[in-house]
Amino acid sequence: MTSIKRKSASNGAAQISDNAKTKQLQLEAFTEPKAPLLTTNQGLQIPDNHNSLKAGPRGPTLLEDFILREKITHFDHERIPERAVHARGSGAHGVFKPYKSMVQYTSAGFLQDPDIETPVFVRFSTVAGQAGSADTVRDVRGFAVKFYTQEGNYDLVGNNIPVFFIQDAIKFPDLVHAVKPEPHNGMPQAASAHDTFWDFVTLMPESTHMLMWTMSDRAIPRSLRMMEGFGIHAFRFINAQGVSHFVKFHWKPKLGVHSLAWDEAQKLAGKDADFHRRDLWEAIDSGNFPEWELGVQIVDEGKESELGFDILDSTKLIPESQVPVQLVGKMTLNRNPENFFAETEQVAFHPGHLVPGIDFSNDPLLQGRLFSYTDTQLSRLGGANFHEIPINRGVCPMHNFQRDGIHRMTIPKGRVAYEPNTLANGTEFRVDGAAQGFQSYPEQIESPKIRARSPSFDDHFSQATLFWNSQTTAEKDHIVAAFRFELSKVEVPDIRQRMVDNLAHVDIKLATRVFANLGISPPDAKAAAGRLGFRDYRITNKVASDEALSMLGKSGGGVKTRKIAILLADGVEPATFKPIVQALTNAGAVCKFVGPHLGTVSTASGKQLAVDHTFGNMPSIMFDAVLIPGGAQSATALCAIGDAVHFVLEAYKHCKTICALNEGVKLLASLGLTAGKNAEQVALPAAGVLVADARKVPEGQISQDFIAAIAQHRHWDRANVEAVPA
Ligand code: HEM
Repeated sequence: MTSIKRKSASNGAAQISDNAKTKQLQLEAFTEPKAPLLTTNQGLQIPDNHNSLKAGPRGPTLLEDFILREKITHFDHERIPERAVHARGSGAHGVFKPYKSMVQYTSAGFLQDPDIETPVFVRFSTVAGQAGSADTVRDVRGFAVKFYTQEGNYDLVGNNIPVFFIQDAIKFPDLVHAVKPEPHNGMPQAASAHDTFWDFVTLMPESTHMLMWTMSDRAIPRSLRMMEGFGIHAFRFINAQGVSHFVKFHWKPKLGVHSLAWDEAQKLAGKDADFHRRDLWEAIDSGNFPEWELGVQIVDEGKESELGFDILDSTKLIPESQVPVQLVGKMTLNRNPENFFAETEQVAFHPGHLVPGIDFSNDPLLQGRLFSYTDTQLSRLGGANFHEIPINRGVCPMHNFQRDGIHRMTIPKGRVAYEPNTLANGTEFRVDGAAQGFQSYPEQIESPKIRARSPSFDDHFSQATLFWNSQTTAEKDHIVAAFRFELSKVEVPDIRQRMVDNLAHVDIKLATRVFANLGISPPDAKAAAGRLGFRDYRITNKVASDEALSMLGKSGGGVKTRKIAILLADGVEPATFKPIVQALTNAGAVCKFVGPHLGTVSTASGKQLAVDHTFGNMPSIMFDAVLIPGGAQSATALCAIGDAVHFVLEAYKHCKTICALNEGVKLLASLGLTAGKNAEQVALPAAGVLVADARKVPEGQISQDFIAAIAQHRHWDRANVEAVPA
């Protein structure tokens, strides 16, 4: 591995190699050594950690017990304020490698050489909920990446949705207050389905495009490993010659982009609140390292007006069919944190953490963010020295004359804490504006000071329409259902009305479908146009639809790490499923035996087969597909177990692949999916429901069909889903 030589002078601070974070060296220096005996924080051995010091074995506890007091005091202070937003998060370490040099566009060192591996730490999060809230709620996901580069830390602090609710950061506190639990009763937790959120967004038509995304399945990802990431704002790439290009950043997951079903997401929130965190942890732990490709859309400075909308408006995206995404590198997450608090909780991201070669645009949302992050971290992390916390330290030398403050860790030597000086070595003296280090792009600005929004931000609906037009039928159905669900939770009918009136400006069919079961009047585009905040300005999209906006066009990823449940009961015939399990395992899927109880079940030949989970402790929502093996006795037994029947019903409702072998087809009868009687039952056609007689069909064929069906992720076009009462 090569490393970039830093151009700026070092004051002799310990040189840390560029792979220090990758190899965990830097963090290891701060990990606690294993010690055989407990001590106090001062290192004093504690002889008894079970009893406080008392005046006699039955007497009162003595104030003198400094061991007790130290322990309780530390406990009393072990919570820090959670993040104001994005409080619920999961982190992982990894590496980033560029595919090629981006020298043409940027001088950023970590994007120059395919041999340079840059350590990263990533934190995924939800936005609205508190730290203990559930993972699978309908929400935007944060996607924040810290690159520990040789030129300083670079943070790409994005989301899994490429646009945002608001155009100007001054509205951020209002947006967050509106979506958070309502102040009078503290409800609901981690949910946008309540009056204050919809009251706010319906009065802010600029949020309509983002609402289309959050009502889509993008807001309920199957896995953090299966979602895209976006930097959202236009940034600048600056090359060594000082030439600037606008750039939008993308993360494209190698496992494809996949979602949960809404009913499933809600149930998971109760049955496994840690579903996404566990999924990420287990994948990394088992060596299935998630990967994303970094993509960039590059727009020449000066040509941005040709896009047809304002590149500085964060409620707009650049359609990929207009400006293709170039894939420029790959990120691999390959190590779980050692300690959730020390790393995932204490990490401090900031869109203002830049490296030379990357700069901001004037997006007013981004500009406000540049103030917010350090400001909030000052209180969240308790002072000005949080850059010294191990997870936040860079891997290149750091030196300045900022001093003191709570919990200062480093010990600067000497009497000089100012610049210029002659009393120390004086090498820091820099007023020459030399080309080294970070250079702000010298954009020409001559404008009146004004508190206003550019008229080019007035178009609020055209890209919401583009998004709608780009969805498949199933995706449109899910968006309609999500709007209906959310708005049906809104108590004030006027708010519901405002939303469908706004939607009439997106697509009248959409608005009419949403309105249908909300007990309000039909959508009225004119009424919306008369309301506060409405701007009568609509641009014509350069593209009518864009397949990159549909999730279904981004499936893929095969069956790697997909979880398959094999339903067991006494009398099961292992020969029916063994080759299929082997084929699935070879393809990277994870097969689990699910039965009525832990321990073992007896096979048809009397052997014992170990059960991994029960129908109750691992319901179908925790799996991607179901296999019902053959065995007359086991099929009859499964039909009599309510939880097993529910398992299959639910998997059917959530459009998962189901494969029934031999007599296992009996269980499908509970779905009304078979015709005929008893052993002659025949499966009725349903997308993603496979039935096979393993005695007649070659086993290789069954495995192949099953794997192909699972790889489709879900069969959203499956019939009769609404009728299933799971
Ligand atoms: C495009 C719009 C935005 C995106 C993509 C975004 C993304 C994020 C992400 C990913 C995090 C979590 C970082 C982590 O995991 O630690 C975060 C936290 C935060 N964001 Fe934003 N955000 C946006 C807009 C804003 C705006 C406009 C403000 C305020 C003006 C803001 C204020 C904050 C604050 C205060 C935190 C908590 C930071 C901490 O305590 O460490 N964000 N944001």
